Amino acid sequence: MKKIVFASAILTLLCSAVSFAVPSTGLTPIEILGRHLYKDKNLSYNGTQSCQVCHHPFAGFADRRNALNPEVSVVSLGADGVSKGGRNAPTAAYAGFSPSLDLVGDQWVGGMFWDGRADGSVLDDPLAEQALGPPLNPLEMAMASKDAVIAVIQASTYANLFLTVFGPGAFDDVEVAYNNFGRAIAAYERSYEVTSFTSKYDKAKSRFTAAENRGMALFELNCADCHSSAAAFGAPAPLFTNYQYANIGAPANPLVPLPEPDPGLGATVSDSNQDGKFKVPTLRNIAASPPYAHNGYFASLRDMVAFINDSSAYIPELDRNIVGDVGNLGLSDSDVDDLVAFLQTLTDGY
Ligand code: HEC
Ligand code: HEC
Repeated sequence: MKKIVFASAILTLLCSAVSFAVPSTGLTPIEILGRHLYKDKNLSYNGTQSCQVCHHPFAGFADRRNALNPEVSVVSLGADGVSKGGRNAPTAAYAGFSPSLDLVGDQWVGGMFWDGRADGSVLDDPLAEQALGPPLNPLEMAMASKDAVIAVIQASTYANLFLTVFGPGAFDDVEVAYNNFGRAIAAYERSYEVTSFTSKYDKAKSRFTAAENRGMALFELNCADCHSSAAAFGAPAPLFTNYQYANIGAPANPLVPLPEPDPGLGATVSDSNQDGKFKVPTLRNIAASPPYAHNGYFASLRDMVAFINDSSAYIPELDRNIVGDVGNLGLSDSDVDDLVAFLQTLTDGY
C-alpha cells in the first residue's frame, strides 16, 4: 500500500514536472512553433497581417472581418489595407485531411484552395504547400522574399523553438527553412486547437432537437453525396466534404474585384470541362463563417441553403459543367430551416 502511495506521489511529481515543461496547451513543439508562425503579424511587410487575421478562430478559422460584415465584405483585405483577392477565405481548419490533387476515375479529388492549385506536388502535403503562398502574395502579407520571411523568424522570440524542432542548422538554407515554415504551420492547423472535432454533432448527437434530427435526415438524402457524412481521408469523424469539385451554378458577385467568371478548377488543370468547378467545402464551423460560396455571394447560411434547394432565380457565374443534383431539390421552407439547424450543430466548442 505504502509502495503504491509512494509510486503515485512520484508519478504526480513527474506529471507536474512534465506539465511544467510542456505548456498547458498540450500541443507538441512543432504545433506550438506553428501557432507562433500562424499568429505572427511580423510575417507581413508592414506588420499588420498574419494567417490568423484572415483565418480567425472566432469565425471558424475563416475571415472574421468578412464574417462580421458579410453583406459588403466578401473577400479578404491584404496587409496593405487596400488590395483584395478574388475569393472568399475558406476555413483553415479540417483542410489538413485533403489529399494531393489527383484524377480518380473522371473526378479530380484533393488539393488546397477553391481551385485545388496547391496540389501537393511541392511538399507532398497540400496544406504545408498552401502555407508557403500567403507571406509572398502581394494581395496578402506581401513580404519581399523568402529570405525576408526567414530573417523575421530568426529575429523572433520563438527562433530557438524553430532550431529545436528543425535542428541547429535550421536557418542555414533559406529554401529548406521556408519549407519547414510551411510544415510547422500545417502541423498547427492539424492540431486539436484548430481541427478539434468538438461540435454538438461530435459530442452530443443524442441531444439533437427534433429540427436538428430532421435536418440531419434531409442532409443525408440531399447533401451527403458531396458533403460526405462518413468518416474518410483518415479523419476520426466526417469532414462533410469528399474533396471533389463541382459547379453548383453560384451567381457572379459584383463585389468581387476580379474579372468574372472565375474558371476555378478548369484553370488549375487546364481543362475547359472543369471550368466553373470549385472544391466541395467542409461544412464544419459553417455557421461561424459567412459569407458563403467561393465568391462570398451569399451573406447568410439560410440564403446559401435556399439557393442549393432552388437556384432557378439565379444566373450562374459560369453556365457550363453545372451539376444536376443541386438547385432543384424541391424542399419546403421548413425543410430549409431544418437543414440550417443541422448545419449549426457543426460548430466547434460545444
Ligand atoms: C489576406 C487574407 C489571407 C491571409 C493573410 C491568409 N489567407 Fe489563407 N486564404 C485566404 C483566401 C482568400 C483563400 C482562398 C483563396 C483561393 O481559394 O484562391 C485562402 C485559402 C487558404 C487555405 C485553403 C483551405 C482550403 O480548404 O482549400 C488554407 C489552408 C489557408 N488559406 C491557410 C492560410 C495560412 C496558413 C496563412 C498564413 C501563412 C494564410 N492562409 C494567410 C485569405 C488569406
Ligand atoms: C454536387 C455536389 C454538392 C451537393 C449535392 C451539395 N453541395 Fe454544397 N457545395 C458544393 C460545392 C462545390 C460548393 C462550393 C461552390 C461554390 O462556391 O461555387 C458548395 C457550397 C456549399 C455551402 C457554402 C460553403 C462555404 O464554405 O461557403 C454550403 C453551406 C453548402 N454547400 C451546403 C449544402 C447543403 C445543405 C446541401 C444539401 C441540401 C448541399 N450543399 C449539397 C457541392 C455540393
